[in-house]
Amino acid sequence: MVITWAMSSSAYTFAQPHLISVRALNRLEAEHILSDAAERLTENANRDHKASLAGKTVCLAFFEDSTRTRLSFELAAKRQGADVIAFAETGSSLSKGESFYDTMVTLDAMGADIIVVRHRAAGAAYMVAQHTRASVVNAGDGAHEHPTQALLDALTLTSKLGSLEGKIITICGDVRHSRVARSNITLLQLLGARVRLAAPATLLPKGVSQWGVEVYGSTLEAAKGADVLMALRIQNERMDGEFVPSVREYRQLFAIDEAALAAAKPDAYVMHPGPINRGVEIADAIADDAQASLVLDQVRAGVAVRSAVLSLLGSRPSNGAPP
Ligand code: NCD
Repeated sequence: MVITWAMSSSAYTFAQPHLISVRALNRLEAEHILSDAAERLTENANRDHKASLAGKTVCLAFFEDSTRTRLSFELAAKRQGADVIAFAETGSSLSKGESFYDTMVTLDAMGADIIVVRHRAAGAAYMVAQHTRASVVNAGDGAHEHPTQALLDALTLTSKLGSLEGKIITICGDVRHSRVARSNITLLQLLGARVRLAAPATLLPKGVSQWGVEVYGSTLEAAKGADVLMALRIQNERMDGEFVPSVREYRQLFAIDEAALAAAKPDAYVMHPGPINRGVEIADAIADDAQASLVLDQVRAGVAVRSAVLSLLGSRPSNGAPP
């Protein structure tokens, strides 16, 4: 299935029915989603919503906890007039032993046009795409990818900075367990940014030397001259064993605090995907800094990006399964 975009200056094809990984996007495709999402930011601010998903069914299949991601997909789908069904693990037939596979093909057979999947296992969204007729959006799969988070972070940044070409973005903290970091690094580099990482050696993944990033041993070092400091949450739920000697030490070396912000460029921005462990990966005052913190801009951008992605995928023919 090939979707042809009518663009103001040129036409190109978006050949994928799913959004599983930012790696599958080329720069033109990423920029197209971002420019569509930028218009939706304005529409959302003006409460001017287009019913471009009327008659479509969007299924939210979250097998892992979520606040921002789930609610923003729900809002984006409902604002565009879709029928939304939300699958919750608790209260479902999973407790009777039904498999993930059977659950997904059941949702597909109900005629879901788009299935938004979050799962603790890397590769879960890909598996759903292999076995259903629906378009699949990966809303986070284990420590693998979180493509719409990277797109919303890019939208937040381009709204503030314009082009990201040559901008220095420092990502701090638990890179090893972070799907946000993986998707962000790929997309930021695709958009021309330079990415630095600040993390203890135990929280860096194997193979990081192949990622085209500069690695630093403290946030303060990595912050020098940066345009943006991005904190990552410590992903306790994905750790088995001790990865940091003490929270105090971790905070001293890797938290984004006043000193790190002062070392960055004047007017540098600070980001966090949420949920925040206040006082661990980011100092309270920095998270709430009205000038520097983009945390709530990220939330707003999340609704806009998810609207753009759902509408892009929703322009395919409907899932032919009987209602
Ligand atoms: C992120 C996630 O779930 O991967 N949060 C989010 O989607 N807003 C980051 C995190 O949980 O730390």
